[in-house]
Formats: sequence, C-alpha cells, structure tokens
Amino acid sequence: MARLKTICWIDDACRIVDQTLLPVELKYEDITSAEQMWDAIKILKVRGAPAIGIAAAFGLYLGIRGFVGTSVEEFMRYLDERAAYLASARPTAVNLFWALERVKRVAKSRSAGADVSSIKKIIFDEAILILEEDDRSCRAIGEFGFEELKNTKTLLTHCNAGGLATASYGTALAPVYVGQERGHIFNVYSDETRPLLQGSRITAFELKEAGIPVTTICDNMAAVLMAKGRIDAVIVGADRIAANGDAANKIGTYTVAVLAKHHGIPFYVAAPFSTFDLTLADGSGIPIEERDGREITHGFGRQTGCDGIGVFNPAFDVTPHELITGIITERGIARKPLTENISKLKLITH
Ligand code: MRU
Repeated sequence: MARLKTICWIDDACRIVDQTLLPVELKYEDITSAEQMWDAIKILKVRGAPAIGIAAAFGLYLGIRGFVGTSVEEFMRYLDERAAYLASARPTAVNLFWALERVKRVAKSRSAGADVSSIKKIIFDEAILILEEDDRSCRAIGEFGFEELKNTKTLLTHCNAGGLATASYGTALAPVYVGQERGHIFNVYSDETRPLLQGSRITAFELKEAGIPVTTICDNMAAVLMAKGRIDAVIVGADRIAANGDAANKIGTYTVAVLAKHHGIPFYVAAPFSTFDLTLADGSGIPIEERDGREITHGFGRQTGCDGIGVFNPAFDVTPHELITGIITERGIARKPLTENISKLKLITH
C-alpha cells in the first residue's frame, strides 16, 4: 500500500504534510527557506523525532543554498551559523541535533579541495541519504517488531510514531504495517494525547487511511482497557533514549508505562539508532521542552481553562528503563539489562 509521504524533496523545495491541519485537511506545503523550516518544526507542522531530523537536514540545505561567495572558510562559518539557528527550534528530539551534526561533519570531511557549489551538493545529497536511511530503518524496526508482536492482536500506542512522524513506515506503527502486509491485522487503540491530540488527529488518521482498525480513547481511559484485559502490548516511539534505556517520549507515555507494569502488559519503545543519545548515562539529562500554556487552556480555538491560573505544559516525559520490556531498533531488540544490550547493538553496523 502506498503510504503518505510526510516529507520529501520535490521541485527545488522540501514538501511536507502540514500536520497542524490533520485530520480535517490533508495539505502539503513547500518549504523553501531555513526560516520556514524552523517555523514548521516549532509549531509542529512537521513533527515526530525522525521526521524532525530529516526536516532539519533539508532545512540546513535550504539555509545555505543561497550563499553567495567562493570562500570555503566563510561558507563553513555560515553553515555552522545556519545549523545553530535550526537547532534552536525544539530541544528534546535528539534526531534534530544528530542530523545537523551529521550534515556538518560530512560537509567538513569532504571540503578539502572542493569548491562551495560542490559542498552545497554534498549537503543536499546527505539530506537525501538521511531520508532514505530512515525509510530503511523504519522498515527494519517493523520487521523486528512484527516478529516480537505477531502473537498479539491488540496494541495501545501514545502520540504518533507512525509514518507521519518518519520518512514512511513509522517506528511504533511499523510492526502494524508489516503485519498488514503479511495478513496479520492488529487492532490499535490510540491515546488521544493531550494537549495537541497527535493520537486522535494523526495516528488515527494514518491508520484509518491504511485500513487498520483503530479506536481512539482519551488518555485517562487506558487503565480501564488494561484492567479488562483488552490490551496485549503497548508500543510507543521515542524522542531521545539515554545509554541506560531511559526514554523520552510524548507527555503521558510514562503514565502508560506505569499502568502497563501494574497490569503485567509488555511495554515496548520503537526507535531508530539516531534517537539514542549515548552521551547521556540516564534520562535525567534529557532536555524537556515546555510549551505555551495556551495549548492547554485555549486548545483548538476554544477556551477551556481559566484566565490567570498557572499552567504546566511539558511536551515530553521520561519513562524509566525499568518499565521498558524492550527497545525495538533497526539493529534488533535491546532487552534487559538495557545498558548492556544497547551497547551491544551500538557495535552492529550495516
Ligand atoms: O511533539 P511531537 O508531536 O513531535 O512528539 C512526537 C512524539 O513524542 C513521538 O512519539 C516521537 O517523536 C517518536 S516519532 C517516531
């Protein structure tokens, strides 16, 4: 089945699905400057850790392609400056920084003897490579994940870690799509995911489009379903995973993990290796984005909170590694003890 392309390069522009309009409108937008890309990342037109990384790489190319001049040294300074600007869009998903660093590293390592226009081309090619690799990684996550989950039927997911958050298959939803290709149809419960409703607006939208049975629940309903024995496994994505397996993901993920533990339900995180931040020993160092409180009090055009009150709006939380059954990556599944098994996967190269 042809999947929605949330991000691609077409006709000299980076084309994205504007995810703020889903599920009412499926609208594509052509991004032609680094400023537009910064904005698109900031306001979640393009969102989900792997898609943010791809967007950042294209954003960097868009940022430097208009550079006028022949000095490679000046160009490199400009590249650093544009990358720092894009890096300020959102703090939690490490894929953003990973992609910018990777593009800069490749440009620098191949700059000796090259002129400015050929370095620009190297940067563009690297952005395309990041997109293509993400596609392959998500497919591999789907294969490993399906193998793990093929004896289950009903999954719960939180936020959107599907095709719309990556180049195509998604991470948490990749096993569902691989299952569909093999004739195993999962039922998916999708947490609504307050306050920006990525679960009901985006996950439910893409699963419905793909013909997968999906049921949306409010975030506070998961415990009831688990208690009734209606959830076989939980699978979510991640924005940054520390060396010990502590995993940052959309706010509310930690709550679901605690519930899963209480009910004896396996809890999986699915993410490509680009989402690991092995410079962090544990999750306490993961920067957590705090967003405008109006997303809670004035979400989607209607005031639902009082004026003049305090509002706490962290966009992510960190699920402690003890609550995670396994981390499904493109290199295989890291199981407990996570620290040890993550380091083993790190050594695997493709
Ligand atoms: O704020 P968002 O919508 O970018 O948050 C997205 C998530 O938390 C996803 O679960 C995560 O990025 C993994 S996407 C494969």
